[in-house]
Amino acid sequence: MKARLTANKSYPIGEVSPKLYGSFIEHLGRAVYGGIYEPGHPTADESGFRGDVLELVRKLNVPIVRYPGGNFVSGYNWEDGTGDKSTRPRRAELAWSSIETNQVGIDEFQKWASLAGAEVMLAVNLGTGTIEDAKNIVEYCNFPGGTKYSDKRRSNGFAEPFKVKTWCLGNEMDGEWQIGRKTAAEYGRIACEAAKVMKLVDPDIELVACGSSHSKMPTFGEWEAEVLMHCWDQVDYLSLHSYYGNRDGDTASFLACSLDMDRFIKSVEAICDYVKALKRSEKTMYLSFDEWNVWFHSNEKDSGLEKWQEAPPMLEDVYTFEDALVVGCLLITLINNSDRVKIACLAQLVNVIAPIMTENGGAAWAQTIFWPFMHASCYGRGTALRCVVDCDGYRSPAYGDVPYIEAAAVQNGSELTVFAVNRSLEEDITLDLDLSGFGNPELIEHIKLNNEDLKAVNTAAQPDAVMPSGGPAAGLSAKLEKHSWNVLRLKIG
Ligand code: AHR
Repeated sequence: MKARLTANKSYPIGEVSPKLYGSFIEHLGRAVYGGIYEPGHPTADESGFRGDVLELVRKLNVPIVRYPGGNFVSGYNWEDGTGDKSTRPRRAELAWSSIETNQVGIDEFQKWASLAGAEVMLAVNLGTGTIEDAKNIVEYCNFPGGTKYSDKRRSNGFAEPFKVKTWCLGNEMDGEWQIGRKTAAEYGRIACEAAKVMKLVDPDIELVACGSSHSKMPTFGEWEAEVLMHCWDQVDYLSLHSYYGNRDGDTASFLACSLDMDRFIKSVEAICDYVKALKRSEKTMYLSFDEWNVWFHSNEKDSGLEKWQEAPPMLEDVYTFEDALVVGCLLITLINNSDRVKIACLAQLVNVIAPIMTENGGAAWAQTIFWPFMHASCYGRGTALRCVVDCDGYRSPAYGDVPYIEAAAVQNGSELTVFAVNRSLEEDITLDLDLSGFGNPELIEHIKLNNEDLKAVNTAAQPDAVMPSGGPAAGLSAKLEKHSWNVLRLKIG
């Protein structure tokens, strides 16, 4: 089969925000304890942070990490995780029915994030929390000193403010599972008032209001509009969350789920612009897709887990090669919407629905989905270009007409990178690149991720079962093998 991709230098989509390649660590399962933090592990440093995990996180080049939840944040008292570790309370953590030891809190996480080369995106508790708590945590993190909470931070060993720039106003506040769930009117009001006091403490911060927990929520659409009517002037982003799975074994449809993500983004954009019109506003509301991934493998096992354990092995999806293709398609979709989506967080980073897995006391390794994420994060920064792909496709019962090729192009100085997934399960496709306005474009490298077995996984025993391959390339045409993820790197001009 043959296909053609046309991209023109004069037709940009927009600048790709580096924060498009963010991730997420929640106090959930073994993300923190046994994930990023395990004192006594052979690779742990004096703070208890695992060196092997840090090394993998650094490879992903993650610019921002959302913390500490997720559902966890809606019952969290952030002060429990500060000060002398020996006196920190053990809590019955209600979001995940686990025991929280509070050995890691904001201070430790801030330290870990700087070691990882990432900034922290903090969520405040608007479930059981008040606007007073939201104000205090900003004062603790960002106020230089001379006040109750900033001096607490200083006495805890952090003379310099953390300067946390991006804050989430709660998490999934429309969900009936959420501690302190609210109606859109209740949430819109508290989000507005919390935002006001937080920005009074530090006017330089930017805030993310909660959109719907996902696009199938019964109030999806109305929730976004009503919340934004309340807090339009105070917030900078609206959140989107989405998880996908191949529950009925229909791989062709599963590979098409990025079409759903695209529709979801376009719908939320339209709602934001509707409120903009009602408000006669000049402001553009940006989108924060701060939870996205594949999540379904662990659902059954988790339903049988014993409650009230410390760091139970929850949400430990072992990702297959086909999941990596889906993550590739979702990344391409985020890049192609990078004019509006300015933050995105792969949920999550370690052990919990994550690209990085660990054994307690043992190895750390890259799951299959690690690879497309790493490629996009490393090569997908710059200006996203509008791509027109002329190719055949197929019908999916769930998503309608699906093109075989999903692609995005990003220009960075004298480099242009094309990301492409061939969704065909039967045929290789020769992709011709038609690149106008780029001087003399020339392929220099073709990296691919492919495997005969769509269900292949990486494990501690076989961490390299699914690994990228490839090498130098030339010309303006590349063979995209059936069911493969491809990174085409070109020199231009
Ligand atoms: O990422 C796992 C959970 O998914 C988060 O805690 C929650 O926000 C979402 O429902």
